[in-house]
Amino acid sequence: MKLSSKRIIFSVLCTIFFLCSLSVYLEDENVSKGAELITEEVKAGKLLFQDYNCTSCHQIFGLGGYMGPDLTNCMSAEGGPQRAEIWLRNGSQKMPNMGLSDEEINNLMAFLAYIDKSGTSPVREFKFSTLGTVDVKHY
Ligand code: HEC
Repeated sequence: MKLSSKRIIFSVLCTIFFLCSLSVYLEDENVSKGAELITEEVKAGKLLFQDYNCTSCHQIFGLGGYMGPDLTNCMSAEGGPQRAEIWLRNGSQKMPNMGLSDEEINNLMAFLAYIDKSGTSPVREFKFSTLGTVDVKHY
């Protein structure tokens, strides 16, 4: 390769490098991290979730008790908020009716809706090989 074409390639790469570096520094620092989603209702709902010890039976992002289902995405699951409200209002044979007021139900639902927007649980599904180990080809 001729020296001049090497110089051209080198200077193009340098220009790209500087443009990429510049774009990092010019990025908008005010990108939302989701703080605006945390309303007063969501905060109250979180405290109720702790007071009533819902985690003793339910998980959020896989953490918590295993008697009830994971609630991370229950608000966007089939049936959505109406389904969740029925459980909160009445309980079931397995979930106790805690005599929650309308306001408490509203706040708990706001908290559950907030969690739903924060991610997906379980994060991914694993496939297992016939030997019972995780099949690394499906990562
Ligand atoms: C004693 C254990 C227990 C406690 C405490 C409990 N739950 Fe449950 N919950 C369950 C079980 C079990 C189910 C599944 C109901 C069924 O299959 O009959 C359930 C179902 C639900 C559902 C419906 C989920 C779906 O399938 O979409 C919601 C929402 C829910 N619970 C919210 C709560 C909240 C909020 C609290 C706290 C105020 C709470 N639960 C406390 C056991 C519990």
